Amino acid sequence: MKVLFVCLGNICRSPAAEGIFINMVQSEGLQDSFQIDSAGTGAWHEGEPADGRMREHAKQRGYELPSIARQFKTSDFKEFDYILTMDNMNFEDVIALADNQQEKDKVRKMVSFCKVHDVPGVPDPYHGGDDGFRLVMDILEDGCSELLKKLKEEMSES
Ligand code: 4NP
Repeated sequence: MKVLFVCLGNICRSPAAEGIFINMVQSEGLQDSFQIDSAGTGAWHEGEPADGRMREHAKQRGYELPSIARQFKTSDFKEFDYILTMDNMNFEDVIALADNQQEKDKVRKMVSFCKVHDVPGVPDPYHGGDDGFRLVMDILEDGCSELLKKLKEEMSES
């Protein structure tokens, strides 16, 4: 199962989602069944590690963020089974690059998996303070946990 998390810069939200999901998958001993990556719709931060504030907030909860930023590319539609976008703009930007309905169907809003948080998107924390980074972590822990449950069900059915 190949999963790609996508945000705008690929230095805050999608690297956090990637790190949380990697951790959850490893905790269940499922690392050999998953390929997990992240990307940004923009290329400004290509080659950079995750934002230091995001890494610190993730570390406080026990997550390492291994991401090195890269831009989303159309071949990702072929490479990945699921493409999880962080907000509505990321969703529209990725959908606009899809060639066909099969590729569009791979794109899902991360918050659609949340069980606890009823929010329209994972808010961009880049220009804000600590509260924004904590909220990102809260939403992503909720969404990643439910996403993993769903993918495990899907894998056991196939
Ligand atoms: P991200 O946050 O999309 O969660 O990685 C951002 C990081 C950088 C910028 C925008 C959003 N930026 O404009 O540089």
